[in-house]
Amino acid sequence: MDNEDKTIDLINNLKDIPAMPNIIVKVLKLMHSETAGAPEMAAVIKCDQALCTKMLSIINSAYYGFGKQITSINMAISLLGIKKTKNIIVTVAMSPLLSFQGAKSLWRHSILTAVGCEYIAEKYNIGNSDDAFVMGFLHDIGKIVLNLIDAERYQIFMNSQVHPDTNIQEERLKFDTDHSSTGSLLALRWQLPDIIKDVIRYHHYPLKAKNFLAPALVNIVNALVQDNFVDDWYDKELAKMINLHIDDIDAVRKEIFEKGEALLQELS
Ligand SMILES: [Fe+2]
Ligand SMILES: [Fe+2]
Repeated sequence: MDNEDKTIDLINNLKDIPAMPNIIVKVLKLMHSETAGAPEMAAVIKCDQALCTKMLSIINSAYYGFGKQITSINMAISLLGIKKTKNIIVTVAMSPLLSFQGAKSLWRHSILTAVGCEYIAEKYNIGNSDDAFVMGFLHDIGKIVLNLIDAERYQIFMNSQVHPDTNIQEERLKFDTDHSSTGSLLALRWQLPDIIKDVIRYHHYPLKAKNFLAPALVNIVNALVQDNFVDDWYDKELAKMINLHIDDIDAVRKEIFEKGEALLQELS
């Protein structure tokens, strides 16, 4: 049985595969419809009172820094634009799935990677910065499945302090699969857009992807946002291949952590 078959087998034996939150399904559908715009997006958000409240509090936070009170969803969408609005919806709606008990570290890591991908994509003009946030945010969703397979063992494993690209090999030895394989299957079931599917599948092996830009960006940011980062943890050759030349790595990390912590505080 090869790695993929083993993963399918493991997933088929699980009783409670998480469902994609309905609001994300609606929002991603909207994003792919050519005629949908701000009014349609506002209508979807307004159906969910808890989401409306949370969105307004996040948009009024220091993270976005608009400097004036934003009091309506329509105003929020017109200031943020549809794509950034989508980022907030995905973050809020996925929060219960990514912050399962005992795995606060995954939630924090997902937010820091999302913020880091968006920041680097914008600052260095790498790929489409509107997609970058969601790619970074969802890159490790396969860990949800591994946690379902064996929560006790996986949570101990998640706290190990080795390089993320080494960690995934260890995962395969210990769990017979890894989070890029379980994540790809989840992404397939959830019908996520191809660019996000590729990131989930290839972020630890970006050069295996047909379009490696997005997986490579996530791979680099994934290393940068580790608390125990040391300089040779990010792949400089890979960075060159996507035209990313980071001048002051400490300043960039500091910026990402400050932005990330500010957003985390708003979301808590
Ligand atoms: Fe990963
Ligand atoms: Fe990661």
